[in-house]
Parts: sequence; structure tokens; C-alpha cells
Amino acid sequence: MREAKVYCELIPGTERIERIRELNPRGLILSGGPASVYEAGAPHPDPALYELGVPILAICYGMQLMAEALGGVVEPSDKREYGAAALVVDEKASIFGRMPDQMPVWMSHGDRITTPPPGFHVLAHSGNSPVAAMGDDRGRVGIQFHPEVVHTPLGKEIIHNFLYDVCRCSGNWEPRSFIESAVEQIRRQVGDGRVICALSGGVDSAVAATLVHRAIGDQLTCVFVNNGLLRLQEGERVIDVMTRGLNIDLRYVDATDRFLTALAGVVDPEQKRKIIGREFVGVFADEARSLEDAGFLAQGTLYPDVIESTSHDPNHAHKIKSHHNVGGLPEDLNFQLVEPLRYLFKDEVRQVGLALGLPEDMVFRQPFPGPGLAIRVIGEVTRERLDILRQADWVVIDEIKRSGLYRQVWQSFAILTPISSVGVMGDFRTYANVVAVRVVTSDDGMTADWAKLPYDVLGEISSRIVNEVPGVGRVVYDISSKPPSTIEWE
Ligand code: XMP
Repeated sequence: MREAKVYCELIPGTERIERIRELNPRGLILSGGPASVYEAGAPHPDPALYELGVPILAICYGMQLMAEALGGVVEPSDKREYGAAALVVDEKASIFGRMPDQMPVWMSHGDRITTPPPGFHVLAHSGNSPVAAMGDDRGRVGIQFHPEVVHTPLGKEIIHNFLYDVCRCSGNWEPRSFIESAVEQIRRQVGDGRVICALSGGVDSAVAATLVHRAIGDQLTCVFVNNGLLRLQEGERVIDVMTRGLNIDLRYVDATDRFLTALAGVVDPEQKRKIIGREFVGVFADEARSLEDAGFLAQGTLYPDVIESTSHDPNHAHKIKSHHNVGGLPEDLNFQLVEPLRYLFKDEVRQVGLALGLPEDMVFRQPFPGPGLAIRVIGEVTRERLDILRQADWVVIDEIKRSGLYRQVWQSFAILTPISSVGVMGDFRTYANVVAVRVVTSDDGMTADWAKLPYDVLGEISSRIVNEVPGVGRVVYDISSKPPSTIEWE
């Protein structure tokens, strides 16, 4: 829906009807689900939902719920219909306007509708679904197949038809219109209060801060903590863009010594993460306390995080996420959260960032873990080892950018292994560090595959690292996918 330029939100099917009325939707989509409508404990929405007077597109289980609630007949089928099916359109109206007579669709259901509710007519059928699509003249439509999966090639058009032909949406959901309304909302929420925002160098916090800054100007103070675990020139870049480019009030805290002292002698990955999280909270809390009148904390929470926590436990969604970024702030820091991106997806955040004038290399930056290079220096984290990794990492990014692959891959980076190996340079025997290179493709970081980089790119990375980075004598390429391996080594 967002891709079709229509704003949408995801809410639990069991949401109170008053709340849905308040949201004043132009239309509703009921999703599919694994339950059977007659099963004990199957989720049912408030039946008043069907009488709200707005168009409804009910998909699969949603369709069965609607059919049952409005007096149709839903029966268990002796044959489960799973996989590709040929849909035959019986009435070229509603969602099927301008569509072909037949189309492949993706089915996944046990129950099926045998008689549509009174007032509904059959819009399409398939081999095993006499009522594969149904509709009435109040804009309520049910479809047995899944338009949202790639296996329904015309699914996007069907959703488009629902949004534009049935709901009469105008399609004005765009980053620019979002910026205006977000700015207004931030002003309303914050009033003349003071907002603090932790910048990580990543796109989410940068866009959130820039948006808040556009709304309230110098009522915003950003804090950037250099934990000593950043990549080459990363801190300088953030300061440059935020201070010189956007004129944001930025407090730069160089806490390198504090972090490295706390990490001294630590080799266990989980312990590293815990220490880094704890130290960060400590440094950030000190800064926040020194800004006495700060009552708000801005964060770059995105919609996927909200959805993830919402669908199971709507009452706790906000709370779970608020501890996520600036994990577990002390209780005396009782901030109200400002989360201007909480209804956006990553690609939309990038669009907003560009529209706000952030530089492309910040907007399209690859993800970088909070614990930074500490989880890429395997074994003890020392200043010297961080320096070696930083230089090797710079070469990887530089070569990946030069080959035009930076945006095509999910992440590309170097790891400093705790292994030394023998080599020969000139006439001398060397015994130096082994660096691993990890480049992966992924959609969301949940699963990933190692990138099949061209040999000449790999070759260039390897020879440059060995030649340019003192202390490295060998480069290996990580060819593990996730699962079973993770993207990061620690
Ligand atoms: P893994 O290694 O679990 O990583 O396959 C998946 C994605 O998450 C990033 N990552 C982190 N990000 N804090 C973060 O903010 C962390 O502790 C952390 N650990 C992993 C990783 O870079 C990859 O994109």
C-alpha cells in the first residue's frame, strides 16, 4: 500500500472498534492468518467492523471471518488448496476492473466459502474455490488468494484497484507531505520543551534528528558519543554533516578511554556487548543530566520495530522499543519519547533523509552494529588492533564503492582475526595478522548470503590490505551464509 503511495497502518485484528473509528480509515484490509473460523480461540474482530461503512478487502482467513459474520457459509474443504491456482474472473468489477479473464494466484487455505453472504456476489472462482472472490455494492470485498505475495503476479494491481477504484484514495503519501505533517506534530508534542537526541552515525537517528531540528530548531541538542570503536573518519563525518551542514547543536563526547579501559582484557562477545551498552548509557546519562531542562528524548524508531512488538502485545509495544536504542536509562531520566519515524519503513526513511538534504553517503550507509568494531576485533580489543582493523576496513569499503557494489550489498567489512600466519615480503619471513573480509547480500539482516564478488574485486581488496595495512600478512574471504552463521563474527 505504501508503495502505491497510500498511507497505511497495521493494527491488531482485535483492536477496539472505537479506536478504529478514531483512526477514520478510508478502507480496511483484513489479513490472512493460520486459524480456522470455527476453531475455539480463533481471533475474531468486533463484528461492528463490517458495518463501519468503509470499504473492506478481506484476504483468506479475513474473508472467511467476514463471510461467516455476515451470514455466508464457510466449510472445511476435504482438499487443502495450497500453491498456484488459476483464478477465473466472473465479474470484471471492483478489484477486477481492467484485469484479464484469468490469472495465476497463490492460495493457502483449508476452509473455503461455499455460499457468499446475502448481498454478495461471486467475483471469481478457481478449481477448488467456488467463491474465490466475492463483493457487495458497499465496497466489501473478500478474496481467498493472497495478493501480497510475489507468486500472485498481478497482486499489486489488485491492491491498487482496491485502493484507488474502491476506496477512492488519492495517492498523496510521499516523503515531502510526510515531512510537513511530522514537523507540525513534533511542534505540537514538544511545545517550547527541550529535546535531546543520541546520534549513532546511522541513517535512522540522523533523519530523526534532522526532522526534529527542522521542527524546533535550537530546542534540540544532539549527543554523539565517540566510543573509540568507530570506523575511520566516522566521527568527523557526523560532526561535519550535523554541525557545519545543518547547524544542529551537537555535543561531541570523546569517551574512547572510558570504553577501552572497560573493555581491557575482555574476549567474550556477549560481555563486550554488555560493557559497551552499559558505558554508553553512563556517558549519555551524564550528558542528559547536564542539560537540566531536557524533557524529551528523540529516537529513530522505525515501523518494523513497532509492528514486531505490536502484533503480539499491543499494550507493551511502546515500552519495549523505548528501551531498545538507548537501552535502560536510569530512572531519574524520565523522558517523553519523540519518535517521528515510528510509522516509516527503511526505504521511506531514506527518501525523507534525501528530501531533508542529508548527503547520499549518510542516507545509504550500510548498517553498522552498536558495539562497533569491538565485535570485529576477535579477542581482546586494543587501540593497536582497532587501528589495524580500521585501515583494513577502509580498504574494503573503498573498493566496494569503487566497484559500484556498495548499495547492492547489505554489508561489507573487515574482521581482524586472532590468528597470525607466516608470509614472505621481499626476502624476509613475516608473521602477521590474518584479516577476514565479509560481504553479504540480504533484505533485512535476518537471513543473508555471502556475496559472489568478482575475483578482480576480491583480488584488489586483498592486495591493497596486505600492501597498505602494516601488520596484516594474509586476507581470507568469508563464504558462510546466515543461517547457520551470523553476519557479524561475534
Ligand atoms: P547478525 O550478526 O546477528 O547481525 O547476523 C544481523 C544484523 O544486525 C547487526 N548487528 C547489530 N546491530 N547492535 C546493533 O545495533 C548489535 O549489537 C548488533 N549485532 C549485530 C549486524 O551488523 C547485521 O546488520
